[in-house]
Amino acid sequence: MGILTINNKLLLALPLVLLCLHLKKKNLTPNRGSLLGDKNILLMGPPGAGKTTVGRILAHKLGLPAVDIDDDVLEPTWNMPVAAKLASVGGQRFLEEEGKALCNFSASGCVISLSGSNPLDTLAMQHIKRSGIVVYLDVDAEDIIQRLARMKVNRVVGQEAGIPMKNILRYRKQFYEKWFDIRVLCGRGETVLEVADKVLNVLERYNNPDKYISTRSNDASKSVYFSDVAVVGMAKDGGLYVPQNGFPKLEANEWVRLVDKPYHERAFVLLEKCIHPHDISGPDLKAMVMKAYGSNFASEDVAPVRHLMGNQYIQELFHGPTASFKDLALQLMPQLFAQCLPPMCNFLVLVATSGDTGSAVLSGFSGLKDVHKHKTGVLVFFPGDGVSEIQRRQMTGLWEGNVRAVSVGADFDFCQRSIKQMFGTPELTGHLAVEYGTLLNTANSINWARLLPQVVYHTSSYLDLCRGGVISFGDPVDVCIPTGNFGNAMSAIYAKSMGLPIRKVICASNHNCVITDFITTGSYNLHNRPLLPSISPAIDILKSSNLERFIYHTSHGDSHLVKELFTSLDRQQHFSVSEKLLEKIQEDVSAGSCSENECLEAIRAVYENTGYIMDTHTAVAKVVGDRLQDDSCPLIISATAHYGKFAPAVFKALGISGIPEDPAEQLKQLNGLAGEPGMHTELLKCLDEGSEQGQRGCEADYEKMVEEVEDMIQESFLKVV
Ligand SMILES: *Cc1c(COP(=O)(O)O)cnc(C)c1O
Ligand SMILES: *[C@@H]1O[C@H](CO)[C@@H](O)[C@H](O)[C@H]1NC(C)=O
Repeated sequence: MGILTINNKLLLALPLVLLCLHLKKKNLTPNRGSLLGDKNILLMGPPGAGKTTVGRILAHKLGLPAVDIDDDVLEPTWNMPVAAKLASVGGQRFLEEEGKALCNFSASGCVISLSGSNPLDTLAMQHIKRSGIVVYLDVDAEDIIQRLARMKVNRVVGQEAGIPMKNILRYRKQFYEKWFDIRVLCGRGETVLEVADKVLNVLERYNNPDKYISTRSNDASKSVYFSDVAVVGMAKDGGLYVPQNGFPKLEANEWVRLVDKPYHERAFVLLEKCIHPHDISGPDLKAMVMKAYGSNFASEDVAPVRHLMGNQYIQELFHGPTASFKDLALQLMPQLFAQCLPPMCNFLVLVATSGDTGSAVLSGFSGLKDVHKHKTGVLVFFPGDGVSEIQRRQMTGLWEGNVRAVSVGADFDFCQRSIKQMFGTPELTGHLAVEYGTLLNTANSINWARLLPQVVYHTSSYLDLCRGGVISFGDPVDVCIPTGNFGNAMSAIYAKSMGLPIRKVICASNHNCVITDFITTGSYNLHNRPLLPSISPAIDILKSSNLERFIYHTSHGDSHLVKELFTSLDRQQHFSVSEKLLEKIQEDVSAGSCSENECLEAIRAVYENTGYIMDTHTAVAKVVGDRLQDDSCPLIISATAHYGKFAPAVFKALGISGIPEDPAEQLKQLNGLAGEPGMHTELLKCLDEGSEQGQRGCEADYEKMVEEVEDMIQESFLKVV
């Protein structure tokens, strides 16, 4: 049973005592409150959020005393109604006195409804937050304004000064998001009973942090937390990590709340539902999301959607610093990664790349806060002749304290193999750990913290179409995605499992079409399938790693099957799924492939008809989308790169000869032609600078690459003494 005091006196407010006695008699329901021990449940939120009523309902359900700060603490302390106090002393004094009164109050094991203005006082909030879990009732501003008008409320600080309620609410939000432990996203028009049930659900989740398991073993005893999966790539059994209980689902009235929100707020609310506060607290997550999406993207909308033609829309995923969709994940992932690393060690992330990943990883890690930069670095090895001049300049242009790229005189496979060898050599890893306190790590595309942020932009494109009046929430859309490792496609499927009304995810391949063949036939077969060069190299793929998560998902977590199939792929280069599973796969996804000529022709045709220039990957999706989509709902095409990244092929498509040699000049010339999209300023800057930068090279020699690793550690991290 709860205990509470004000001014060191046991509180004897009459209604409260009656309530306690009443509950004592009726305490037949299981005491769910005991889950929280003697901690308080602190309900926080704007005036009119229903804190008092929800508090009473909760208290009753949990068999705990209810305390209302306004009625049970402030009014007895001041001996007058709160509204009268506000009217007599004014907003500023009111807040001070309210803060002092809260500092004098203590309680345990209660359901406490805070006042709407309590969170504005730092000392008071620090004091009360120590006593319990702060639950933020996040109610839509429109709902609040209507309720307050109905209730004729006259005790809101700021109101007396004539400030519009909308502005008061907007100002307050930052304080609620500073103090909360867990949010209840209230749907529009939700009743207090429904809100109370949601509070119970979020408390339940708070007490039982989300866990992750491997796609190859359902063994719950081996489950791990987000903090663990954010730093490792693969599970020990070779599987990939997935949430043990799937994704949280949002109801339509909750989704609708996100329609008029900017990208970073959508990201914050959605990621919060997928990352437990014990792993990353809400306020920390907010700071990371702001850092990632606040101003690093050239478009304010981060991943804007524009109309292309007919029922086709393009989602532009290339406004990040390195001009491919990988920025959407990699501006956030390094922050999640750095926060989840165990303390006391340095981490060096080793990456082998032949494409867009290198520059996106370098950019993401170079943006870390200083405290993290001192202990987290990236070293990218790329094949000297295996990347385009543009990609080379993008990578070598990013050379800072904790990030660097080294060109190796070998092919991609050699780079990849050498890194694997380093991880597999205990003498080396042991030496680096002992001598420099440094552990090696990878940040590859199977990492959960890379996949998760991508769920957000799929929801964002849908919500943008709602905001633009193209669809109403609940209407279906299809998305079409140029698919390589199946990360982008998988995150769309996860968005669907959160309740977003995506009808079909259409996967688009170039002539390396192993995924399309799998989705259309149920057989994944690497026999006689050489990797062919293409003009859309980011989707040149043989082993599509995230497909494992998809099969786990469609088979409802059949980890035996997943293990069997992917072991067979490793050993026999082949697997097939049953008719029944194939049918289920085809309920969610369809797939098609696009030839090199079709890709070029699509770039030309779209440019001629609309003035819009697509990159080669976007064009692959456009071709396949045209072929497979039936016009009965909007189609969102994932534009995964800016045309400037794959300029030579785009020149070819547009039939322009005499291409300038300098990539910066190529970009400028294409930009002169394009009606849309406009210049990618960051890309141009990188290409300009990259030409001046000296490039660090290294021979095709394992020992030399190890020296590069050691050099980097010595120059970047403090030596442990
Ligand atoms: C990485 C990449 C892709 C492939 O995305 P997956 O998530 O691996 O399927 C497509 N287009 C571009 C431009 C890329 O950089
Ligand atoms: C806080 O409590 C002390 C006694 O413990 C009392 O003297 C003081 O007036 C109280 N302050 C407020 C703001 O209630």
